[in-house]
Amino acid sequence: MKIISSIHEMQVEAEHIRLSGKRIGVVPTMGYLHRGHTSLIEMARKQSDVVVTTIFVNPTQFGPGEDFDRYPRDLDRDRVLAEDAGTDYLFTPSTAEMYPAGFATFVTVEGVSEILEGKFRPTHFRGVTTVVMKLLLITKPHIAVFGQKDAQQAFILRKMVRELNVDTEIIVAPIVREHDGLALSSRNVYLSQDERRRATSLYQSLQLASARIQSGDRSVDSLRKEIMNLLKAAQPLQVDYVAFVDPTSFREVDLVAPPQVLALLAVRFGATRLIDNMLISVP
Ligand code: PAF
Repeated sequence: MKIISSIHEMQVEAEHIRLSGKRIGVVPTMGYLHRGHTSLIEMARKQSDVVVTTIFVNPTQFGPGEDFDRYPRDLDRDRVLAEDAGTDYLFTPSTAEMYPAGFATFVTVEGVSEILEGKFRPTHFRGVTTVVMKLLLITKPHIAVFGQKDAQQAFILRKMVRELNVDTEIIVAPIVREHDGLALSSRNVYLSQDERRRATSLYQSLQLASARIQSGDRSVDSLRKEIMNLLKAAQPLQVDYVAFVDPTSFREVDLVAPPQVLALLAVRFGATRLIDNMLISVP
């Protein structure tokens, strides 16, 4: 595995790979890799000839007072995990090179960036779309792999790539969960033992929603009430949202309808904000 931190060097290398006729797959990450990330790298490995994993804790997607400074970082461990999962190039740019003084160009997907996560983190998606567009232009991939755990992010990135005619296919890989259902996230390390135990209520809520929908409940009001009861029993600091959207438009619905609905949650336990989601078939 080759490690590159210069943007120019990565662009030259990517151009050579493209000219040799090989398919490039990129996996953008913020590091502190876990099995969720390595599953994305493995998926890129299967669908491309050369895998580029990027590690960059992107300051523009963190709002004031969020966890940018304390976001977990461990490049030595990441190097081993990335290589073992099948990475050929590890791209680790510096903040100074990604965002030189005076940087003022941003990519925004309007509308869908302002709801749900965007309501609680107003500048978050603008930071994500800007950095991902930069990473796509630097690594020139045929495919880019992201996780379903960040469902709204994946929807927004697909929309961005389609609307700006970027020649990269966005692939979305399934959520990887712990044995008790907690979705893997780099932020899980912030949870105390007690919060970690109570955090299983997110997956239990999604399972409850799925079971109720299978038995005929169609009303989002009634589904939300049941979920709120389950979540409140786990004593979260705050439930930011419990939402049901049409997965093709990301519009919130009042009644769930076939063929599918996407249930999404954001819940705070202490200082840690967790998100999760489930794509539910509607009979
Ligand atoms: O999903 C993430 O880890 C980040 O939002 C991403 C896509 C790497 C952009 O910084």
